[in-house]
Amino acid sequence: MENIQRFDFLVIGGGAAGLTFALEAAAHGSVAVLFKRSPEESSTAWAQGGIAAVSADDDDSSLHAQDTHIAGAGLCNPQIVDIVVREGPQRVQDLVTRGAQFDHQGTNFALHREGGHSRRRILHAGDSTGREVQRALLAAAKANSAIQFFAHTLAIDLITSQKLNQAENQPNLILGAYVLGQDGQVGTFLAEKVLVASGGAGKVYLYTSNPDVATGDGIAMCFRAGCAVANMEFFQFHPTCLYHPQAKSFLISEALRGEGAKLKRINGDCFMQRYDSRAELAPRDIVARAIDNEMKTHGEDHVLLDLSHRGEPFVKEHFPQIYSRCRELGINPGTQPIPVVPAAHYCCGGVVSDEHGRTSIQNLYVAGECSCTGLHGANRLASNSLLETLVFGHRAAQDAIKTRGARKLECTPPPWERGCATMSNEQVLVSHTWEELRRAMWNYVGIVRSDKRLELALRRANLIAREVHDYYWNYIVDRDLLELRNITLVAQLVIHSALRRRESRGLHFTTDYPETKEAYACDTVLDAKEWYHYARTLAGY
Ligand code: FAD
Ligand code: SIN
Repeated sequence: MENIQRFDFLVIGGGAAGLTFALEAAAHGSVAVLFKRSPEESSTAWAQGGIAAVSADDDDSSLHAQDTHIAGAGLCNPQIVDIVVREGPQRVQDLVTRGAQFDHQGTNFALHREGGHSRRRILHAGDSTGREVQRALLAAAKANSAIQFFAHTLAIDLITSQKLNQAENQPNLILGAYVLGQDGQVGTFLAEKVLVASGGAGKVYLYTSNPDVATGDGIAMCFRAGCAVANMEFFQFHPTCLYHPQAKSFLISEALRGEGAKLKRINGDCFMQRYDSRAELAPRDIVARAIDNEMKTHGEDHVLLDLSHRGEPFVKEHFPQIYSRCRELGINPGTQPIPVVPAAHYCCGGVVSDEHGRTSIQNLYVAGECSCTGLHGANRLASNSLLETLVFGHRAAQDAIKTRGARKLECTPPPWERGCATMSNEQVLVSHTWEELRRAMWNYVGIVRSDKRLELALRRANLIAREVHDYYWNYIVDRDLLELRNITLVAQLVIHSALRRRESRGLHFTTDYPETKEAYACDTVLDAKEWYHYARTLAGY
Protein backbone atom coordinates (compact mmCIF):
# COMPACT_ATOMS: atom_id res chain seq x y z
CA MET A 1 0.00 0.00 0.00
CA GLU A 2 1.23 3.50 -0.84
CA ASN A 3 2.21 5.48 2.24
CA ILE A 4 0.01 8.50 1.61
CA GLN A 5 -2.99 8.74 -0.72
CA ARG A 6 -5.10 11.85 -1.24
CA PHE A 7 -8.73 12.14 -2.33
CA ASP A 8 -11.46 14.74 -2.19
CA PHE A 9 -13.81 12.38 -0.35
CA LEU A 10 -12.96 9.35 1.80
CA VAL A 11 -15.79 6.89 2.47
CA ILE A 12 -15.15 4.32 5.19
CA GLY A 13 -17.61 1.50 4.43
CA GLY A 14 -19.35 0.48 1.24
CA GLY A 15 -22.84 -0.63 2.25
CA ALA A 16 -25.98 1.27 1.26
CA ALA A 17 -25.02 4.42 3.21
CA GLY A 18 -21.44 4.66 1.97
CA LEU A 19 -22.21 3.85 -1.67
CA THR A 20 -25.12 6.31 -1.79
CA PHE A 21 -22.77 9.03 -0.56
CA ALA A 22 -19.97 7.97 -2.93
CA LEU A 23 -22.19 8.03 -6.01
CA GLU A 24 -23.33 11.59 -5.32
CA ALA A 25 -19.92 12.91 -4.25
CA ALA A 26 -18.29 11.43 -7.36
CA ALA A 27 -19.80 14.16 -9.54
CA HIS A 28 -17.70 16.68 -7.56
CA GLY A 29 -14.32 15.06 -6.99
CA SER A 30 -12.32 11.91 -6.42
CA VAL A 31 -13.75 9.34 -4.00
CA ALA A 32 -12.07 6.44 -2.17
CA VAL A 33 -14.38 3.75 -0.76
CA LEU A 34 -12.90 1.35 1.81
CA PHE A 35 -14.36 -2.13 2.33
CA LYS A 36 -13.08 -4.14 5.24
CA ARG A 37 -13.53 -7.38 3.34
CA SER A 38 -15.01 -7.92 -0.12
CA PRO A 39 -17.35 -5.23 -1.52
CA GLU A 40 -20.23 -7.72 -1.40
CA GLU A 41 -19.92 -8.29 2.37
CA SER A 42 -22.14 -5.98 4.39
CA SER A 43 -25.33 -5.97 6.43
CA THR A 44 -26.92 -4.23 3.48
CA ALA A 45 -26.29 -7.30 1.32
CA TRP A 46 -27.87 -9.52 3.99
CA ALA A 47 -31.07 -7.50 4.43
CA GLN A 48 -34.10 -9.65 3.79
CA GLY A 49 -37.48 -8.06 4.51
CA GLY A 50 -37.12 -4.84 2.58
CA ILE A 51 -37.37 -1.07 2.73
CA ALA A 52 -40.20 0.71 4.52
CA ALA A 53 -41.38 3.58 2.32
CA VAL A 54 -44.84 4.91 1.72
CA SER A 55 -46.22 4.03 -1.71
CA ALA A 56 -49.73 2.58 -1.29
CA ASP A 57 -52.95 4.58 -1.64
CA ASP A 58 -54.12 3.70 1.87
CA ASP A 59 -50.84 4.91 3.40
CA ASP A 60 -49.21 8.27 4.07
CA SER A 61 -46.08 9.67 5.67
CA SER A 62 -47.89 10.66 8.88
CA LEU A 63 -48.88 7.01 9.45
CA HIS A 64 -45.31 5.90 8.80
CA ALA A 65 -44.11 8.57 11.25
CA GLN A 66 -46.66 7.46 13.84
CA ASP A 67 -45.57 3.80 13.62
CA THR A 68 -41.91 4.86 13.90
CA HIS A 69 -42.65 6.89 17.05
CA ILE A 70 -44.67 4.09 18.66
CA ALA A 71 -41.84 1.59 18.13
CA GLY A 72 -39.28 4.18 19.32
CA ALA A 73 -40.99 4.38 22.75
CA GLY A 74 -40.89 8.16 23.11
CA LEU A 75 -37.27 8.77 22.10
CA CYS A 76 -37.47 9.37 18.33
CA ASN A 77 -36.49 12.85 17.21
CA PRO A 78 -39.67 14.18 15.48
CA GLN A 79 -37.72 16.38 13.04
CA ILE A 80 -35.59 13.45 11.88
CA VAL A 81 -38.57 11.09 11.63
CA ASP A 82 -40.35 13.65 9.51
CA ILE A 83 -37.36 14.06 7.18
CA VAL A 84 -36.95 10.31 6.71
CA VAL A 85 -40.58 9.41 6.05
CA ARG A 86 -41.06 12.33 3.66
CA GLU A 87 -37.80 12.05 1.71
CA GLY A 88 -37.64 8.25 1.83
CA PRO A 89 -39.86 7.52 -1.19
CA GLN A 90 -37.73 9.81 -3.41
CA ARG A 91 -34.53 8.10 -2.25
CA VAL A 92 -36.09 4.75 -3.14
CA GLN A 93 -36.83 6.14 -6.61
CA ASP A 94 -33.15 7.19 -6.88
CA LEU A 95 -32.24 3.60 -6.10
CA VAL A 96 -34.55 2.36 -8.83
CA THR A 97 -32.96 4.86 -11.23
CA ARG A 98 -29.58 3.40 -10.27
CA GLY A 99 -30.82 -0.02 -11.34
CA ALA A 100 -32.36 -1.69 -8.27
CA GLN A 101 -35.34 -3.90 -9.10
CA PHE A 102 -38.09 -4.48 -6.59
CA ASP A 103 -41.05 -6.86 -6.83
CA HIS A 104 -44.17 -5.41 -8.45
CA GLN A 105 -47.84 -6.17 -8.43
CA GLY A 106 -49.06 -4.70 -11.71
CA THR A 107 -47.47 -1.26 -11.97
CA ASN A 108 -47.19 -0.75 -8.20
CA PHE A 109 -44.57 -2.04 -5.77
CA ALA A 110 -45.61 -5.34 -4.18
CA LEU A 111 -45.73 -4.61 -0.47
CA HIS A 112 -45.08 -6.79 2.58
CA ARG A 113 -46.11 -6.01 6.11
CA GLU A 114 -43.87 -6.31 9.19
CA GLY A 115 -44.21 -5.93 12.97
CA GLY A 116 -45.17 -2.45 14.19
CA HIS A 117 -46.37 -1.26 10.76
CA SER A 118 -50.03 -0.26 10.54
CA ARG A 119 -49.98 -0.67 6.75
CA ARG A 120 -48.35 -2.81 4.08
CA ARG A 121 -45.39 -0.62 3.11
CA ILE A 122 -42.31 -2.84 2.81
CA LEU A 123 -41.05 -2.95 -0.74
CA HIS A 124 -38.77 -5.88 -1.40
CA ALA A 125 -36.92 -8.04 -3.90
CA GLY A 126 -38.15 -11.48 -2.85
CA ASP A 127 -36.55 -12.09 0.53
CA SER A 128 -33.11 -10.92 -0.69
CA THR A 129 -33.80 -7.19 -0.85
CA GLY A 130 -30.39 -6.23 0.47
CA ARG A 131 -28.55 -8.32 -2.08
CA GLU A 132 -30.36 -6.42 -4.84
CA VAL A 133 -29.65 -3.02 -3.23
CA GLN A 134 -25.95 -3.84 -2.77
CA ARG A 135 -25.71 -5.22 -6.32
CA ALA A 136 -27.27 -2.14 -7.90
CA LEU A 137 -25.21 0.36 -5.90
CA LEU A 138 -21.95 -1.54 -6.45
CA ALA A 139 -22.59 -1.79 -10.19
CA ALA A 140 -23.26 1.96 -10.42
CA ALA A 141 -20.18 2.80 -8.34
CA LYS A 142 -17.90 0.45 -10.30
CA ALA A 143 -19.01 2.14 -13.51
CA ASN A 144 -18.01 5.57 -12.15
CA SER A 145 -14.40 6.46 -12.90
CA ALA A 146 -14.21 9.01 -10.05
CA ILE A 147 -14.73 6.24 -7.50
CA GLN A 148 -11.83 4.01 -6.44
CA PHE A 149 -12.53 0.82 -4.48
CA PHE A 150 -10.16 -0.45 -1.76
CA ALA A 151 -11.27 -3.95 -0.76
CA HIS A 152 -9.84 -5.80 2.27
CA THR A 153 -8.71 -2.42 3.58
CA LEU A 154 -9.52 -1.57 7.17
CA ALA A 155 -9.63 1.92 8.65
CA ILE A 156 -7.85 1.85 12.03
CA ASP A 157 -8.29 5.37 13.37
CA LEU A 158 -9.31 8.81 12.23
CA ILE A 159 -6.74 11.57 11.95
CA THR A 160 -7.95 14.89 13.32
CA SER A 161 -6.32 18.27 13.79
CA GLN A 162 -6.58 17.87 17.56
CA LYS A 163 -4.72 14.59 17.43
CA LEU A 164 -1.96 16.47 15.64
CA ASN A 165 -1.77 18.66 18.73
CA GLN A 166 -3.54 21.65 17.26
CA ALA A 167 -4.55 24.02 20.10
CA GLU A 168 -7.60 22.77 22.01
CA ASN A 169 -9.50 26.02 21.40
CA GLN A 170 -9.38 25.56 17.62
CA PRO A 171 -12.27 23.59 16.05
CA ASN A 172 -11.41 19.95 15.58
CA LEU A 173 -11.09 19.12 11.88
CA ILE A 174 -10.94 15.76 10.09
CA LEU A 175 -7.91 15.05 7.92
CA GLY A 176 -8.26 11.38 7.03
CA ALA A 177 -7.55 7.96 8.49
CA TYR A 178 -4.82 5.43 9.11
CA VAL A 179 -5.65 2.32 7.14
CA LEU A 180 -4.47 -1.31 7.23
CA GLY A 181 -4.04 -2.62 3.69
CA GLN A 182 -4.38 -6.16 2.40
CA ASP A 183 -0.57 -6.40 2.43
CA GLY A 184 -0.52 -5.84 6.21
CA GLN A 185 1.03 -2.36 5.84
CA VAL A 186 -0.52 0.73 7.41
CA GLY A 187 -1.00 3.72 5.10
CA THR A 188 -2.49 7.20 5.41
CA PHE A 189 -5.59 8.23 3.45
CA LEU A 190 -6.23 11.97 3.41
CA ALA A 191 -9.38 13.77 2.27
CA GLU A 192 -11.15 17.06 2.84
CA LYS A 193 -14.43 15.30 3.60
CA VAL A 194 -14.73 11.93 5.35
CA LEU A 195 -17.84 9.79 5.75
CA VAL A 196 -17.87 6.95 8.27
CA ALA A 197 -20.47 4.40 7.12
CA SER A 198 -19.05 1.26 8.66
CA GLY A 199 -22.35 -0.36 9.69
CA GLY A 200 -23.35 -2.08 12.91
CA ALA A 201 -21.81 -3.95 15.81
CA GLY A 202 -23.74 -7.23 16.14
CA LYS A 203 -20.48 -9.15 16.58
CA VAL A 204 -20.22 -7.74 20.09
CA TYR A 205 -22.71 -10.51 20.99
CA LEU A 206 -22.08 -14.23 20.73
CA TYR A 207 -25.23 -14.87 18.70
CA THR A 208 -26.07 -12.39 15.98
CA SER A 209 -27.77 -12.10 12.62
CA ASN A 210 -24.92 -9.83 11.43
CA PRO A 211 -22.06 -10.54 9.02
CA ASP A 212 -18.48 -10.69 10.32
CA VAL A 213 -17.76 -7.08 9.27
CA ALA A 214 -20.15 -5.74 11.93
CA THR A 215 -17.63 -5.02 14.69
CA GLY A 216 -18.60 -1.43 15.47
CA ASP A 217 -15.36 -0.02 14.03
CA GLY A 218 -16.86 3.32 13.02
CA ILE A 219 -18.46 3.91 16.40
CA ALA A 220 -15.21 3.07 18.19
CA MET A 221 -13.08 5.18 15.80
CA CYS A 222 -15.34 8.22 16.06
CA PHE A 223 -15.51 7.96 19.86
CA ARG A 224 -11.75 7.74 20.07
CA ALA A 225 -11.54 10.81 17.83
CA GLY A 226 -13.79 12.79 20.18
CA CYS A 227 -17.35 12.38 18.83
CA ALA A 228 -20.26 11.84 21.21
CA VAL A 229 -22.02 8.49 21.07
CA ALA A 230 -25.68 8.01 22.07
CA ASN A 231 -28.27 5.36 22.97
CA MET A 232 -25.91 2.39 22.89
CA GLU A 233 -28.08 0.51 25.41
CA PHE A 234 -30.74 0.08 22.71
CA PHE A 235 -29.39 -3.01 20.98
CA GLN A 236 -32.10 -4.69 18.98
CA PHE A 237 -32.51 -8.46 19.15
CA HIS A 238 -34.28 -9.91 16.14
CA PRO A 239 -36.87 -12.39 17.40
CA THR A 240 -36.33 -15.05 14.76
CA CYS A 241 -32.93 -16.34 13.68
CA LEU A 242 -32.67 -19.90 12.48
CA TYR A 243 -31.81 -22.34 15.27
CA HIS A 244 -29.58 -24.99 13.75
CA PRO A 245 -26.00 -26.05 14.53
CA GLN A 246 -24.89 -25.37 10.95
CA ALA A 247 -26.76 -22.09 10.48
CA LYS A 248 -24.40 -19.33 11.53
CA SER A 249 -26.26 -16.01 11.52
CA PHE A 250 -29.20 -16.84 9.29
CA LEU A 251 -32.25 -14.62 9.68
CA ILE A 252 -35.85 -15.70 9.25
CA SER A 253 -37.44 -12.48 8.07
CA GLU A 254 -40.11 -10.67 10.02
CA ALA A 255 -42.05 -10.62 6.75
CA LEU A 256 -43.06 -14.24 7.47
CA ARG A 257 -45.00 -13.01 10.49
CA GLY A 258 -46.44 -10.30 8.25
CA GLU A 259 -47.80 -13.10 6.05
CA GLY A 260 -49.38 -14.89 9.02
CA ALA A 261 -46.60 -17.06 10.53
CA LYS A 262 -47.35 -18.07 14.13
CA LEU A 263 -44.88 -18.38 16.97
CA LYS A 264 -45.27 -21.59 18.96
CA ARG A 265 -43.60 -23.45 21.75
CA ILE A 266 -42.17 -26.87 20.87
CA ASN A 267 -45.46 -28.42 22.12
CA GLY A 268 -47.44 -26.32 19.60
CA ASP A 269 -48.76 -23.76 22.13
CA CYS A 270 -49.22 -20.30 20.47
CA PHE A 271 -48.12 -17.76 23.08
CA MET A 272 -47.89 -14.25 21.55
CA GLN A 273 -51.50 -13.25 22.27
CA ARG A 274 -50.72 -13.57 25.99
CA TYR A 275 -48.05 -10.85 25.67
CA ASP A 276 -49.59 -8.30 23.30
CA SER A 277 -52.90 -7.85 21.48
CA ARG A 278 -50.93 -7.34 18.25
CA ALA A 279 -49.53 -10.86 18.81
CA GLU A 280 -46.90 -11.79 16.17
CA LEU A 281 -47.09 -8.27 14.68
CA ALA A 282 -46.12 -6.47 17.88
CA PRO A 283 -42.83 -4.47 17.67
CA ARG A 284 -39.65 -6.50 17.84
CA ASP A 285 -38.67 -5.75 21.42
CA ILE A 286 -41.96 -7.20 22.68
CA VAL A 287 -41.76 -10.31 20.49
CA ALA A 288 -38.09 -10.98 21.37
CA ARG A 289 -38.79 -10.62 25.11
CA ALA A 290 -41.82 -12.91 24.88
CA ILE A 291 -39.74 -15.62 23.16
CA ASP A 292 -36.93 -15.18 25.69
CA ASN A 293 -39.42 -15.54 28.54
CA GLU A 294 -41.04 -18.66 27.06
CA MET A 295 -37.63 -20.29 26.50
CA LYS A 296 -36.44 -19.49 30.03
CA THR A 297 -39.72 -20.42 31.74
CA HIS A 298 -39.92 -23.82 30.05
CA GLY A 299 -36.18 -24.51 29.80
CA GLU A 300 -36.43 -24.84 26.02
CA ASP A 301 -33.60 -23.84 23.71
CA HIS A 302 -35.75 -22.52 20.86
CA VAL A 303 -39.33 -21.83 19.75
CA LEU A 304 -41.00 -22.49 16.41
CA LEU A 305 -42.16 -20.19 13.62
CA ASP A 306 -44.90 -21.76 11.54
CA LEU A 307 -46.03 -20.56 8.11
CA SER A 308 -46.85 -24.05 6.83
CA HIS A 309 -50.60 -23.27 6.74
CA ARG A 310 -49.91 -21.02 3.71
CA GLY A 311 -48.67 -24.06 1.81
CA GLU A 312 -45.36 -24.87 0.15
CA PRO A 313 -45.91 -23.01 -3.17
CA PHE A 314 -46.67 -19.76 -1.30
CA VAL A 315 -43.63 -20.05 0.99
CA LYS A 316 -41.35 -20.95 -1.90
CA GLU A 317 -42.57 -18.08 -4.06
CA HIS A 318 -42.52 -15.36 -1.40
CA PHE A 319 -39.43 -16.41 0.56
CA PRO A 320 -37.18 -18.25 -1.89
CA GLN A 321 -33.90 -17.63 -0.02
CA ILE A 322 -35.31 -18.74 3.34
CA TYR A 323 -37.02 -21.72 1.74
CA SER A 324 -33.88 -22.98 0.05
CA ARG A 325 -31.56 -22.37 3.05
CA CYS A 326 -33.99 -24.27 5.32
CA ARG A 327 -34.29 -27.09 2.79
CA GLU A 328 -30.48 -27.40 2.67
CA LEU A 329 -30.62 -28.00 6.42
CA GLY A 330 -33.41 -30.55 6.19
CA ILE A 331 -36.33 -28.29 7.19
CA ASN A 332 -39.25 -27.73 4.82
CA PRO A 333 -40.88 -24.42 5.87
CA GLY A 334 -43.76 -25.12 3.48
CA THR A 335 -44.82 -28.16 5.50
CA GLN A 336 -43.25 -27.80 8.95
CA PRO A 337 -42.39 -25.08 11.51
CA ILE A 338 -38.91 -23.50 11.57
CA PRO A 339 -36.89 -23.63 14.83
CA VAL A 340 -35.93 -20.06 15.79
CA VAL A 341 -34.22 -18.04 18.54
CA PRO A 342 -33.63 -14.31 19.06
CA ALA A 343 -30.17 -12.91 18.20
CA ALA A 344 -28.44 -9.51 18.29
CA HIS A 345 -29.46 -7.70 15.14
CA TYR A 346 -29.24 -3.92 15.07
CA CYS A 347 -27.44 -1.17 16.97
CA CYS A 348 -29.94 1.67 17.43
CA GLY A 349 -27.26 3.80 19.08
CA GLY A 350 -24.22 5.24 17.40
CA VAL A 351 -22.28 8.39 16.63
CA VAL A 352 -24.39 11.47 17.28
CA SER A 353 -25.16 13.29 14.05
CA ASP A 354 -27.42 16.10 12.94
CA GLU A 355 -29.96 16.28 10.10
CA HIS A 356 -27.12 16.43 7.54
CA GLY A 357 -25.13 13.54 8.98
CA ARG A 358 -22.62 16.01 10.45
CA THR A 359 -20.69 15.08 13.60
CA SER A 360 -19.02 17.35 16.13
CA ILE A 361 -15.76 17.08 14.13
CA GLN A 362 -15.71 19.45 11.15
CA ASN A 363 -15.92 17.78 7.73
CA LEU A 364 -16.57 14.38 9.35
CA TYR A 365 -19.94 12.80 8.54
CA VAL A 366 -21.60 9.55 9.61
CA ALA A 367 -24.48 7.67 7.97
CA GLY A 368 -26.23 4.34 8.30
CA GLU A 369 -26.16 1.94 11.20
CA CYS A 370 -23.07 3.45 12.87
CA SER A 371 -24.88 6.78 13.30
CA CYS A 372 -27.45 7.91 15.83
CA THR A 373 -29.63 10.38 13.97
CA GLY A 374 -32.61 10.12 16.32
CA LEU A 375 -34.78 8.17 13.87
CA HIS A 376 -35.02 4.95 15.87
CA GLY A 377 -35.30 6.20 19.45
CA ALA A 378 -35.43 3.28 21.87
CA ASN A 379 -36.36 0.68 19.25
CA ARG A 380 -36.09 0.61 15.46
CA LEU A 381 -39.19 -0.08 13.43
CA ALA A 382 -38.62 -2.99 11.02
CA SER A 383 -37.19 -2.03 7.61
CA ASN A 384 -36.55 1.60 8.60
CA SER A 385 -32.82 1.02 8.53
CA LEU A 386 -32.19 0.71 4.80
CA LEU A 387 -34.38 3.77 4.39
CA GLU A 388 -32.23 5.71 6.84
CA THR A 389 -29.02 4.71 5.00
CA LEU A 390 -30.42 6.11 1.74
CA VAL A 391 -31.76 9.34 3.24
CA PHE A 392 -28.64 10.17 5.24
CA GLY A 393 -26.15 8.89 2.66
CA HIS A 394 -27.78 11.44 0.33
CA ARG A 395 -28.08 14.27 2.87
CA ALA A 396 -24.48 13.91 4.04
CA ALA A 397 -23.26 13.96 0.43
CA GLN A 398 -25.27 17.09 -0.35
CA ASP A 399 -23.86 18.90 2.66
CA ALA A 400 -20.30 17.75 1.96
CA ILE A 401 -20.56 18.94 -1.65
CA LYS A 402 -22.07 22.29 -0.66
CA THR A 403 -19.48 23.08 1.99
CA ARG A 404 -16.34 22.02 0.10
CA GLY A 405 -13.43 24.40 0.49
CA ALA A 406 -15.03 26.16 3.47
CA ARG A 407 -12.41 24.94 5.93
CA LYS A 408 -9.37 22.97 5.01
CA LEU A 409 -6.13 22.24 6.79
CA GLU A 410 -3.16 21.71 4.49
CA CYS A 411 -0.77 19.51 6.39
CA THR A 412 0.71 16.07 6.20
CA PRO A 413 0.21 13.98 9.31
CA PRO A 414 3.09 11.86 10.55
CA PRO A 415 3.08 8.28 9.28
CA TRP A 416 1.71 5.46 11.41
CA GLU A 417 4.18 4.64 14.16
CA ARG A 418 5.03 1.03 14.52
CA GLY A 419 7.28 1.78 17.51
CA CYS A 420 8.98 -1.33 18.85
CA ALA A 421 5.97 -3.60 18.24
CA THR A 422 6.83 -7.17 17.27
CA MET A 423 4.96 -10.01 15.53
CA SER A 424 2.67 -11.93 17.88
CA ASN A 425 2.85 -15.70 18.03
CA GLU A 426 -0.03 -15.83 20.51
CA GLN A 427 -3.06 -15.40 18.22
CA VAL A 428 -4.96 -17.72 20.55
CA LEU A 429 -5.08 -14.88 23.10
CA VAL A 430 -7.00 -12.69 20.67
CA SER A 431 -9.46 -15.40 19.66
CA HIS A 432 -10.01 -16.47 23.28
CA THR A 433 -10.59 -12.91 24.47
CA TRP A 434 -12.92 -12.25 21.55
CA GLU A 435 -15.06 -15.26 22.53
CA GLU A 436 -14.99 -14.36 26.25
CA LEU A 437 -16.19 -10.81 25.63
CA ARG A 438 -18.99 -11.83 23.27
CA ARG A 439 -20.18 -14.53 25.65
CA ALA A 440 -20.22 -12.09 28.59
CA MET A 441 -22.25 -9.64 26.51
CA TRP A 442 -24.70 -12.37 25.56
CA ASN A 443 -25.09 -13.68 29.12
CA TYR A 444 -25.16 -10.38 31.01
CA VAL A 445 -26.19 -7.61 28.60
CA GLY A 446 -28.88 -9.43 26.62
CA ILE A 447 -32.63 -9.09 26.20
CA VAL A 448 -33.35 -8.93 29.95
CA ARG A 449 -30.83 -7.11 32.14
CA SER A 450 -30.17 -6.28 35.80
CA ASP A 451 -27.66 -4.01 37.53
CA LYS A 452 -25.83 -7.02 38.94
CA ARG A 453 -25.39 -8.62 35.53
CA LEU A 454 -24.35 -5.34 33.95
CA GLU A 455 -21.74 -4.76 36.64
CA LEU A 456 -20.37 -8.27 36.14
CA ALA A 457 -20.13 -7.60 32.41
CA LEU A 458 -18.45 -4.25 32.98
CA ARG A 459 -15.77 -5.76 35.21
CA ARG A 460 -14.93 -8.30 32.51
CA ALA A 461 -15.02 -5.75 29.70
CA ASN A 462 -12.71 -3.41 31.63
CA LEU A 463 -10.22 -6.21 32.29
CA ILE A 464 -10.30 -7.20 28.64
CA ALA A 465 -9.82 -3.56 27.61
CA ARG A 466 -6.59 -3.43 29.59
CA GLU A 467 -5.32 -6.65 28.05
CA VAL A 468 -6.22 -5.47 24.58
CA HIS A 469 -4.46 -2.18 25.23
CA ASP A 470 -1.21 -3.93 26.14
CA TYR A 471 -1.53 -6.22 23.17
CA TYR A 472 -2.27 -3.31 20.84
CA TRP A 473 0.88 -1.43 21.79
CA ASN A 474 3.23 -4.40 21.97
CA TYR A 475 2.39 -6.31 18.79
CA ILE A 476 2.13 -5.44 15.13
CA VAL A 477 -1.55 -4.83 14.43
CA ASP A 478 -3.66 -7.19 12.34
CA ARG A 479 -7.36 -7.26 11.53
CA ASP A 480 -8.36 -9.56 14.40
CA LEU A 481 -6.65 -7.43 17.00
CA LEU A 482 -8.09 -4.19 15.60
CA GLU A 483 -11.60 -5.64 15.57
CA LEU A 484 -11.21 -6.94 19.10
CA ARG A 485 -10.07 -3.47 20.20
CA ASN A 486 -13.21 -1.99 18.63
CA ILE A 487 -15.77 -4.46 19.96
CA THR A 488 -14.25 -4.11 23.43
CA LEU A 489 -14.83 -0.38 23.38
CA VAL A 490 -18.32 -0.83 21.93
CA ALA A 491 -19.12 -3.33 24.71
CA GLN A 492 -18.00 -0.79 27.32
CA LEU A 493 -20.20 1.87 25.70
CA VAL A 494 -23.22 -0.46 25.64
CA ILE A 495 -22.79 -1.49 29.29
CA HIS A 496 -22.21 2.05 30.52
CA SER A 497 -25.25 3.35 28.69
CA ALA A 498 -27.36 0.48 30.06
CA LEU A 499 -26.21 1.19 33.62
CA ARG A 500 -27.17 4.83 33.25
CA ARG A 501 -30.74 4.09 32.18
CA ARG A 502 -32.52 3.21 35.41
CA GLU A 503 -35.82 2.38 33.78
CA SER A 504 -37.15 -0.01 31.12
CA ARG A 505 -37.92 1.45 27.71
CA GLY A 506 -37.98 0.01 24.22
CA LEU A 507 -35.08 -2.40 23.79
CA HIS A 508 -33.65 -1.81 27.26
CA PHE A 509 -35.41 -3.98 29.83
CA THR A 510 -34.05 -4.36 33.34
CA THR A 511 -35.62 -6.34 36.18
CA ASP A 512 -34.34 -3.72 38.67
CA TYR A 513 -36.36 -0.90 37.08
CA PRO A 514 -39.20 -2.53 35.12
CA GLU A 515 -41.21 0.71 34.66
CA THR A 516 -40.77 3.46 32.11
CA LYS A 517 -39.98 6.77 33.82
CA GLU A 518 -40.60 10.27 32.51
CA ALA A 519 -37.27 11.42 33.97
CA TYR A 520 -35.48 9.15 31.48
CA ALA A 521 -37.33 10.32 28.39
CA CYS A 522 -34.06 11.50 26.86
CA ASP A 523 -31.07 10.11 24.96
CA THR A 524 -28.15 8.56 26.80
CA VAL A 525 -25.26 10.59 25.47
CA LEU A 526 -21.70 9.57 26.25
CA ASP A 527 -19.98 12.85 25.66
CA ALA A 528 -16.48 12.44 24.31
CA LYS A 529 -15.03 15.23 26.48
CA GLU A 530 -16.43 13.71 29.65
CA TRP A 531 -15.57 10.16 28.64
CA TYR A 532 -12.34 10.62 26.81
CA HIS A 533 -10.14 10.42 29.89
CA TYR A 534 -12.15 7.50 31.19
CA ALA A 535 -11.81 5.67 27.89
CA ARG A 536 -8.10 6.45 27.75
CA THR A 537 -7.61 4.96 31.18
CA LEU A 538 -9.50 1.79 30.28
CA ALA A 539 -8.56 1.16 26.70
CA GLY A 540 -5.33 3.09 26.56
CA TYR A 541 -5.28 5.62 23.79
P1 FAD B 1 -23.30 -2.01 6.02
O1 FAD B 1 -24.21 -2.34 4.94
O2 FAD B 1 -23.10 -3.01 7.09
O3 FAD B 1 -21.87 -1.70 5.38
C1 FAD B 1 -20.76 -1.52 6.22
C2 FAD B 1 -19.52 -1.36 5.35
O4 FAD B 1 -18.47 -0.87 6.17
C3 FAD B 1 -19.02 -2.66 4.75
O5 FAD B 1 -18.58 -2.39 3.44
C4 FAD B 1 -17.81 -3.00 5.62
O6 FAD B 1 -16.82 -3.74 4.96
C5 FAD B 1 -17.29 -1.62 5.94
N1 FAD B 1 -16.46 -1.50 7.13
C6 FAD B 1 -16.76 -1.80 8.41
N2 FAD B 1 -15.72 -1.50 9.21
C7 FAD B 1 -14.75 -0.98 8.41
C8 FAD B 1 -13.44 -0.50 8.64
N3 FAD B 1 -12.88 -0.44 9.86
N4 FAD B 1 -12.72 -0.08 7.58
C9 FAD B 1 -13.22 -0.12 6.32
N5 FAD B 1 -14.47 -0.56 6.05
C10 FAD B 1 -15.22 -0.98 7.09
N6 FAD B 1 -32.79 -3.32 7.50
C11 FAD B 1 -33.88 -2.98 6.80
O7 FAD B 1 -34.22 -1.80 6.72
N7 FAD B 1 -34.61 -3.95 6.17
C12 FAD B 1 -34.29 -5.26 6.22
O8 FAD B 1 -34.96 -6.10 5.62
C13 FAD B 1 -33.15 -5.64 6.97
N8 FAD B 1 -32.81 -6.94 7.08
C14 FAD B 1 -31.64 -7.26 7.71
C15 FAD B 1 -31.23 -8.60 7.72
C16 FAD B 1 -30.02 -8.94 8.28
C17 FAD B 1 -29.58 -10.38 8.30
C18 FAD B 1 -29.19 -7.93 8.85
C19 FAD B 1 -27.86 -8.27 9.46
C20 FAD B 1 -29.61 -6.60 8.86
C21 FAD B 1 -30.83 -6.27 8.30
N9 FAD B 1 -31.28 -4.94 8.27
C22 FAD B 1 -32.40 -4.62 7.59
C23 FAD B 1 -30.43 -3.86 8.79
C24 FAD B 1 -29.71 -3.19 7.62
O9 FAD B 1 -29.35 -4.17 6.66
C25 FAD B 1 -28.46 -2.47 8.06
O10 FAD B 1 -28.70 -1.68 9.17
C26 FAD B 1 -27.95 -1.55 6.94
O11 FAD B 1 -27.82 -2.27 5.75
C27 FAD B 1 -26.62 -0.94 7.32
O12 FAD B 1 -26.10 -0.32 6.19
P2 FAD B 1 -24.75 0.49 6.33
O13 FAD B 1 -24.45 1.07 5.00
O14 FAD B 1 -24.81 1.39 7.49
O15 FAD B 1 -23.66 -0.63 6.71
C1 SIN C 1 -36.34 -8.82 8.55
O1 SIN C 1 -36.45 -9.12 7.37
O2 SIN C 1 -36.97 -9.35 9.46
C2 SIN C 1 -35.35 -7.77 8.91
C3 SIN C 1 -35.97 -6.46 8.77
C4 SIN C 1 -35.20 -5.43 9.51
O3 SIN C 1 -34.25 -5.74 10.24
O4 SIN C 1 -35.57 -4.27 9.39
